[in-house]
Amino acid sequence: MRGRQGREIATGRLPGASLSPPPALHTSHSRDTSRGTTHPTPRTDTAAAMQDSPITRPAAASSLGFGVGLRPVHFPVILERVAQQQLRIDWFEIISENYMVPGGRPLRILDEIRSHVPVVLHGVSMNLGSTDPLDEAYLEGLARLADRVDPPWVSDHLCWTGVDAHNLHDLLPLPYTAETVRHVADRIGRVQDRLRRQIAIENVSSYLSYTSDEMTEWEFLTAIAEEADCGILLDVNNIFVSAHNHDFDASLYVDAIPIERIYQIHLAGHSVQGPLLIDTHDHPVRAEVWKLYERVISRIGPTATLIEWDDRIPSYGVLESEALLARSLCEDLLAHGDSESPRSARSPQVGQE
Ligand SMILES: [Fe+2]
Repeated sequence: MRGRQGREIATGRLPGASLSPPPALHTSHSRDTSRGTTHPTPRTDTAAAMQDSPITRPAAASSLGFGVGLRPVHFPVILERVAQQQLRIDWFEIISENYMVPGGRPLRILDEIRSHVPVVLHGVSMNLGSTDPLDEAYLEGLARLADRVDPPWVSDHLCWTGVDAHNLHDLLPLPYTAETVRHVADRIGRVQDRLRRQIAIENVSSYLSYTSDEMTEWEFLTAIAEEADCGILLDVNNIFVSAHNHDFDASLYVDAIPIERIYQIHLAGHSVQGPLLIDTHDHPVRAEVWKLYERVISRIGPTATLIEWDDRIPSYGVLESEALLARSLCEDLLAHGDSESPRSARSPQVGQE
């Protein structure tokens, strides 16, 4: 696992969680359809089965396009491309905490970039799973930044990062229980009320599970999103990493997430360390993750996609080429109508080292 503040994260591994679903999985909530628009007609059997229910999500979820994480080392080249109107990607994602400051050059550059393309806020400090009180000062700063940037959405992680006022600087997994669902969904509700906007929660990679687990990770993620009426930032690389580490089928995971909840996708590179895959964000997207991404897009259609790269950061051009590859894969999938397109067979070579 990797913290987004440049820290390597300690990892461990335990056997996978129980697969038995609890009764709390199918919590229903009325949805505010004014916040979203009708999704394009689904193409697969799974998606077609959902046509009877209203499929809504923010318009930007399907129209935002392809972006990369905004990193200070790339400021000069990005500003140059903006000035020359040669920005080839559609949007950026920032680490919220890096811009929750009263002023300074990064904030001025953010304002300049934001005047040209959308910027999504992605945080690491909401500590949604903790039993500590929500950090009101943090939420106030985040609300101020969100009002300044006006992002399509704000996201953070489905995890806990500390307790008893100790920040562990880690994105730690939660026990997949009905009690945790209620606890986290309640906190998300209060965050959304405070920010006056929906947030999206991201699945983290994990290297341990709890003996108290009552459901799968994808059931847990879905139950919380439904209970809290929030979006999901689906990190496809994290799913691939966790599927390997806990020995479950990643396709079961991605096929189970409600389409209307998926606001955004993350793609990133991971590393192999002994029997484990580690979410290091320091490699190109691997071939197997591209394949899983194609499966997701085939099922849910165009979805805002972002390339994450947080360590051993390459030139901006490398990052950009990964985003453009994602665009190319999606265009081919949409043109062919399924994941068996010629591009699908070509993609595995691209993400290899
Ligand atoms: Fe991610």
